[in-house]
This record gives sequence, C-alpha cells and structure tokens, in this order.
Amino acid sequence: MISTVSSTSQRTIRCGELSEKNSDDVVRLAGWVHRTRNLGGLVFLDLRDRAGLVQVSFNPDFTPQAVIDAAASLSLESVVYVEGKVVLRPQEMRNPDMTTGSVEVQATSLEVVGPASTLGIPVAGGKGSNLPAEELRLRHRYLDLRRPELQKNLVLRHKLLQTTRRYLDEKEFLEIETPMLTKPTPEGSRDYLVPSRIHPGEFYALPQSPQLYKQLLMISGYDRYFQIARCFRDEDLRADRQPEFTQIDIEASFISPEDIFELTEGLLVSLFAQAGITIPQQFPRMKYVEAMESYGCDRPDLRYDLKIKDYTAAFETIEFVVTQTAIKAGGRVRGIKVPNGASLSRKQVDEVEAQAKSAGAAGLLRLKFVDGKFEGPVAKFLDDSAISAFGVEDGDLLLFVAAPDHISNPALDRVRQDLASRLNLLEGAENSIIWITDFPMFAVDAETGKVDAVHHPFTAPHPDDIKFLESDPAAVRALAYDVVFNGTELGGGSIRISNPDVQRRALQVLGIDSEQAGLRFGFLLEALAAGAPPHGGIALGFDRIAMMLADAPSLRDVIAFPKTTAARALFEGAPSEVPAEELLELHLNPVSV
Ligand code: AMO
Ligand code: AMP
Repeated sequence: MISTVSSTSQRTIRCGELSEKNSDDVVRLAGWVHRTRNLGGLVFLDLRDRAGLVQVSFNPDFTPQAVIDAAASLSLESVVYVEGKVVLRPQEMRNPDMTTGSVEVQATSLEVVGPASTLGIPVAGGKGSNLPAEELRLRHRYLDLRRPELQKNLVLRHKLLQTTRRYLDEKEFLEIETPMLTKPTPEGSRDYLVPSRIHPGEFYALPQSPQLYKQLLMISGYDRYFQIARCFRDEDLRADRQPEFTQIDIEASFISPEDIFELTEGLLVSLFAQAGITIPQQFPRMKYVEAMESYGCDRPDLRYDLKIKDYTAAFETIEFVVTQTAIKAGGRVRGIKVPNGASLSRKQVDEVEAQAKSAGAAGLLRLKFVDGKFEGPVAKFLDDSAISAFGVEDGDLLLFVAAPDHISNPALDRVRQDLASRLNLLEGAENSIIWITDFPMFAVDAETGKVDAVHHPFTAPHPDDIKFLESDPAAVRALAYDVVFNGTELGGGSIRISNPDVQRRALQVLGIDSEQAGLRFGFLLEALAAGAPPHGGIALGFDRIAMMLADAPSLRDVIAFPKTTAARALFEGAPSEVPAEELLELHLNPVSV
C-alpha cells in the first residue's frame, strides 16, 4: 500500500503500512502503545494505528539509554511518536501473524504526546469470549473502537457506502437529502417526537423513513432519487434493530417492479463483492403465499430444507383428540419432517416443543418412524397405510402443530430455525438470497379484525384486486416485494399509489377517514392530484447489510456509536434528564415527564 501520509505530517508512514520495501528507511511513526515487553534493558513495543501494528525495538546498540528508560515506562494506549530505522527481522524472528511481521523499527527517539492513564477497558488481547462485557465496551466506546475488528468493520462500512454512491450515480440516481424534523410517516413503529419551542404544543417527528419525501420528489420530476438516509423508529429492539439506523433509500418514476429488482440485484452484487461474497446476478423469487405455506414466515431462510407440509388429510381419519379438535375448528395439522430426526433425544424434542410453545402453539406433536414402527402419542392409531400417508422413511421424526395458520406459522417458523441450529444445518451451507413478492396489501388481525398495512399505506394494490379494496381487503395483493438474505429481511419496497382517489380509498380501509387523511396526508393527496407519475422504489437496511458482510453478530458491531437494546447511548449518556427550565421553554410540563 502506498502511504498517503503527506511530507508535512508529523509522521512519514503509517505503522501498518511498513513492509520489506521500507527496509533501511528512516521513518517517523505515530500511534498507540498496543503492547510492551521489557526484557531487562531491551524493550519491544507494538505500535498501532489504523493501518495495523508494527514492532519497535529499543536496544542500547542503537537507542539512547534515556529513550530506553522512557519506553520501559510507557503506559498502554498512550499516543507516541517514534523515530527509527526499518530493518528486516532475522528469518526466525519474523511474525507471520502480523502484516508487518518481517520488519521492525529500531528506535532512536520517542515522544509521548498523548499519555493514557487508567483505561476503562483493555484494548489489546480482547477477542471473542475474552472481550470485556458489552456494556463496558459501549460505555468506553472510544477504546472499543480502537480494536482492529471494529476498525475493519467500519472500513468495510465506508467501502459499502462509497460503492453504493458510485453504483447509483452511474445509473443516474440523484442523491437528495430530506428533512430530519418532519411530520410522522407511518412505517408501523412509534415516532420519536421533538417539541417545538416556537409553536407551543406542536411537535416535529423524526422520520421513520423518507417515504413521503421521495414520492414527492417523483411528483416533482426528479425521476431517480437515492439517499443514504438516517431513520428513527421507537420500537422494541433486537440484535438486528436499532432505534436510529441507515437505509439505502431509492425511488424512481415510470418503472415496474422488474426495474427495481434488476437495480437492487446489481447493487447487492457489487456490495457483496466488497466482502468477497458472490451472489447470483438474479435472485430467485417466491410468492408470499408460498413462503408462508412452506416456511411459516415471509423471510424464509433457504439455506436448509425442512419445509412445512400440510398433513391435515392424513389426520382426518385419526381419532386423536388434539388434532380432531383443531381440524373441526377450521384449523390444519401442518408439520415438518426431520430426516434422521428420530435420533434426537426426548429432552431435545422437548426443547424444540418449548420453542413452538413460546411462539404461541399449544404443543408440538411428535411422531417417530424407527425400524418400521411409529412411536409417539398417535402411534396407536396408525397402521402401515400411514407410512405412505405421512411419506416417512426409517429414522424420520415428524413434528406437527394442529392450529389455525396464524398460530402454526410462527410456531413452525421457530421450530425450523431451532432445528437448523440444533442439527448444525447452517455450517457450510450455501447463502440464500431471494425476492418475496405478491405480499398482501393488508393484514387483518384474526382476533380483533383490525386492518393494518403490511408494507405501508402508500403501496399500490395489484390492479386486478383494486375492486376488492372495500369488500375483501384481506384478498388484495400489493405490488410489494422484500429481499431476504439467509432469513433476514435486507430490504423492502413497492410500486406506490399514484392516483389520489385510490390513495384515499386505501387510507379509508385502514380506518383513516377523509378528514384524518386530509390532516395527516393532505400534502401528499394534493401533490398526487398535481400530475403524479407512476413510481416506486425500495429501501435496503444498510446496517443489516454491513452486519452480514462483516459477519458480525450484531448491528452494534458495524455502527460507530450504537444504542443498547434498551435504546441507551452508554458512552455519552443519552437519553438524559433536562433541567426544568428547559422543559418549560419547550412548553412541556416537568412534572408529567
Ligand atoms: P421498511 O420499513 O421495510 O421499508 O425498511 C426497509 C429496511 O430497513 C431496515 N430496517 C432496520 N434496520 C435496522 N434497525 C431497524 N429498526 C430497522 N427497521 C427497518 C430493514 C428493512 O428491510 N419506506 C419503506 C421502503 C420503501 O417502500 O421504499 C421502508 O422504510 O432491513
Ligand atoms: P397427550 O399426551 O395425548 O395429551 O398428547 C398431547 C400431545 O400433543 C403433546 O405432545 C402435546 O404437546 C401435543 N399437542 C397439544 N396441543 C397441540 C397442538 N395444538 N398441536 C400439536 N400438538 C399439540
């Protein structure tokens, strides 16, 4: 690597950039004291900067005694300047684990410019389970961020951002920024609200996404827009959710879903290539209905099989009370066949059942087929004809949930995932990336009958289904799609409603009457009536992509300053209390806060 450090800089090259090519060079380095070893008179220092580590040696043969003494008393993580000569290490002293392992710097001077006193957490030596607790690391994030692993992740994140910009710029997408202080955009979460000081009792919302702005930009004729957009959602957090996150947000006019698929596939292929991962140029597609039927969820992980099948017909004639009751109540008996699953112990299957129950199922019915015999609670009702009815082979385990689909889907989804990790099916499995298409427009709650938008209220209904909007909303398909990588939703989008009357009708189905629609989305309805092009787009979860590509377990590993799962920023301490006077200025009552 060629150093870009300029000649006026206080260093001549980065530590991690040194190689055999620099041998005999006199260099001036700057960096952090990563590790020191004092061998009584000889001191070795591993000096670290963003490019990596290099070994510096302090030895009476070439180092003044005062400098050796100073090196011996260096505290870890101090910032120092070092001058010296680069020499090749003797063959047997070379360290293949360090990129600079074939050289060392023979120090002639040392200057401590940023002494480090007590450290909240150690920086060197922490890896995997040796790392300090995450709370401590987040509390001392400036130290945690010095770790080479996190530096690598943030460098990758940078590259992904630049790749995105280049790719979309080449396709003539315009990068346009949209406001942070805005009006609520419904994306299905709670808003973060910001009180207005000059307008008592009024609030801005931080955007859950730039959805409405990007549609307005299409109406204004900008044709192709993108933004690396910060979004805010006050929702329950998990490892793959942050209250503040980044989307690659895209919108275009005069396009079909095919155009968005092609554009997104090209973008993801280039992004994955940054991490050396090859994915197909075109992603397979699966309809929502099939995903739910065969995998119990709309983001199926296809790295392993374990498909869900409908066994209702096989159970119809079996006088087993659990399954009969469910079938009579209009439910089905769906299950998963686990090849060689009969070898799982009773305790292990109990654990899988516990997963199904925690996802809402009443139980998980098991049926083993071993040495030509069925085993399990229903075995006594079965004869040889059941072998073909269930399609079993020796060693199989079948696991069933008897229930309506809205219960069996999440339960069997959980069972599939649990089995995959229990049976080690992910190891060495090929990545899976797919489009899920033909989402329903609305989700109708099985218990309350409440209608919600599956994607968001601006998603276009399938033209053939507009006629059912009012009469049978659950049957209306949307022109919406998600892209799913290894069971994680990377992004989602849709063609939008560009007709104000259809938009009003869609809002009405969601229980937003025309008065409410005017108050909340009047600006959009007005714009849609001012010459709106057909348009659509997608948003990709940028942090999730970075997390996958960095092979990191959490979004926190690819965000410089993330929040905890309790939505706290531990290092700077946010959220925090505000003095009563400030609240009063914002027209907020301190007592009620
Ligand atoms: P959606 O709500 O599906 O769509 O969001 C798009 C993608 O953003 C990512 N994402 C998140 N990442 C981290 N933390 C979160 N809390 C979080 N929430 C969502 C996901 C998701 O797939 N306006 C529409 C897009 C459109 O229609 O064009 C939208 O925001 O990876
Ligand atoms: P029994 O011991 O006869 O009551 O058998 C009940 C078995 O059926 C247990 O293994 C339960 O976990 C299981 N079970 C109960 N309810 C359901 C259900 N809705 N779907 C699938 N299995 C169930």
